[in-house]
This record gives sequence, C-alpha cells and structure tokens, in this order.
Amino acid sequence: EKGGYKHFMLKEIFEQPRAVRDTIAGRLREEQGDVYLEDLSLSDAQLQKVNRICIIACGTSWHAALVGKFLIEEYCRVPVEVDIASEFRYRNPVVDENTLVMLISQSGETADTLAAMRESKRRGGTCVAICNVVDSSIAREADGVIYTHAGPEIGVASTKAFVTQLIALYLFTIRLGRSRGKMDQEQGRKLISAIVRVPGLMEEALKLNEQVEKVARNYISARDFLYLGRGMNYPIALEGALKLKEISYIHAEGYAAGEMKHGPIALIDEHMPVVVLVPKGATYDKVFSNMEEVIARGGRVIAVCSKGDAEVAGKVEVALEIPEDGEEVMPIIISIPMQLLAYHVAVLKGTDVDQPRNLAKSVTVE
Ligand code: F6R
Repeated sequence: EKGGYKHFMLKEIFEQPRAVRDTIAGRLREEQGDVYLEDLSLSDAQLQKVNRICIIACGTSWHAALVGKFLIEEYCRVPVEVDIASEFRYRNPVVDENTLVMLISQSGETADTLAAMRESKRRGGTCVAICNVVDSSIAREADGVIYTHAGPEIGVASTKAFVTQLIALYLFTIRLGRSRGKMDQEQGRKLISAIVRVPGLMEEALKLNEQVEKVARNYISARDFLYLGRGMNYPIALEGALKLKEISYIHAEGYAAGEMKHGPIALIDEHMPVVVLVPKGATYDKVFSNMEEVIARGGRVIAVCSKGDAEVAGKVEVALEIPEDGEEVMPIIISIPMQLLAYHVAVLKGTDVDQPRNLAKSVTVE
C-alpha cells in the first residue's frame, strides 16, 4: 500500500503534484480570473461585509494560516489575525457579525480547533473551514467549507495535506479579492496561471530527493537546527523546523530571518546547521545578508535557493536549488526540500518516520 516507497511519508511527499491537481480541479475560471468554490456557501454580499478575518488552527495547519494572512492582506487588503486554536479559545477574542473566522484542519477533528469554531459561532462570526476529511466535525459545523483533495494522509507528519491547504488559501484569496473588487480580472488571471504551474514546479523540486538523501548524512549528529525565512517563506521556515523535530527528534527552531540578530544569533557556531530560505524574490537581498551573518559566525548553511544562483551556491555548505520562477507560489515549492530534509535525516537516524513517538494523527484531546 506504500506504492513501492519505504514510508507513507515519502509516498505522500511524491503524491503532492497529484494532490494539488485534484484540489484545483474544476475550480478555476481562468477566463474570468476567478475561482469557483462549490461548498464555500458565501455570497459576494457576505464576503463584502467582512471587515476582519481570523484564521485559527494548530500545528502545521497554523503554519498554513500564516501564509494565508500574507496572501489575504496582500491581495484583498482585509486585516487578518492568525491564532493558535488553544490560545484563541481560552481568551476573550474579538469576534462579531463582520468577522470571518477561518478554521484550518486536515482531520477536521482537532478538539481545540473545533472548540474555537463553536466559540466563534456563539459570538456571531461566520465560519469557513479548510478540511481534508469530508463530513468531519469541523466541516459539518462550519457555515462553509473548502475541501482539500489530498486524499487520506497516513504519515503523522503532515505533507500533502499542508500544501493543499496552501492551495485552498490561494483559491480563497482569489474569490475574496474578486468579490470585493480588490483584485481585478487581470490580477486574478495572473495568480491562477501561477497556481496552474504549481504541480510542474513541484515535480521539478522533487528531483532534489537524491541530493538531499546524500547530504542528510552530514547532519544526523546535529543537536539543534535553525531555519530562517522572510515574508511568505517565514512560515515555511517554521514548518521545516517542525517537520524536523517531530520525526527526527532533533531540536529545531524557525525564525524570521530579520529577527535573528535579536537573540538566536548567539546560538550560532560551527556545529549549528542553519537552513536559509533564500530564493530570488522580494526579500532576496535581505535574506542574503542574514545568511552572510550566519556564515561569518561559522554556521553551516544549507541554502534553498533559485536554480543557477551561483552567488549563494558559492558560499554555503549545501545549496538546494529549486525552480527559479513561481515567486507567487514559492511557499508551496519551497516546502518540498523542507520535507525531504526532515525525512532523510530521520530515516538515517532510524526513527519511526510514519509513527513518531508521542504523536497522534488526530488530536481529539484538549
Ligand atoms: C504536524 C502535524 C500536526 C497537525 C496538527 C493539526 O506534522 O501534522 O501539527 O498539523 O495536529 O491537525 P489538523 O490539521 O488535523 O487539525
């Protein structure tokens, strides 16, 4: 049932181009520069009256939420707050009739996320869920749903569910932007064409598998890892660190690259692998100089950079090159080397990759 792969996790990593294709299938209106979300159940008028969005989730789904904030604020100009479900539900959150509350949950059964949704509804908020499991509790109780079509995810560490959550957020952003007149037809078309290219770009990035497997050996005795990124790639630095710690049991932290000098830089020495997400794009120069600061302190940099970026490749211990186009959808593409790195380090350490200790696939306790 693992389709020839050694673990479900690896199978699911390689299934991602298919999972993305299935999640966008039938939903794009390329000509109109809009999308159709069959179960969203919110009219243009309802989307127009929203003045604030709260996205609530746990774990990996919370990382997707952070990318969602970036997208919605960038393209729709609606303020977005992102919250961890177990924090949101135990404070006194501001939610009213004009608040759209979005819940992201692969399983649709996470207790804290479900409770956060019920609390939001009680306060009058409209709730939209992004779920992978049809008819799960969260999907059933939400006012609208955007299903991801990742298929069943068996590996405890989320991979294909995460990237399809990102796709769902792109689709929602287009729908919201178009309905509110913040995104014109041309911008909608442009973003759609970037989304259409995602499966191909992912296939390209999956070719890194062999290289990552080879270099992973050099890092299995590391005690700590640091992951750095900016902008839309900052949540992917967090996600890369989470993937590594949950399956390899190596301590890892993700940081906004610009925040490094405010503390974590003190940790850097010649034993510290630092994964730097430095693809070409808006924040390239800034991240590049953060990377130089790490190198100056002896840190062992694993850079994820654009194909052919000799400037980065010439400075670092390992350069993992990803396709150079696709800046708009970079969080999705750059997730692949993060997953592969965590996977291969864990396999070499001999851990139970699909069933890491102390973790459950669906967290139905509070
Ligand atoms: C990490 C992971 C967890 C889940 C979290 C939320 O790889 O899988 O952090 O993301 O438990 O689960 P869902 O999305 O089912 O609510």
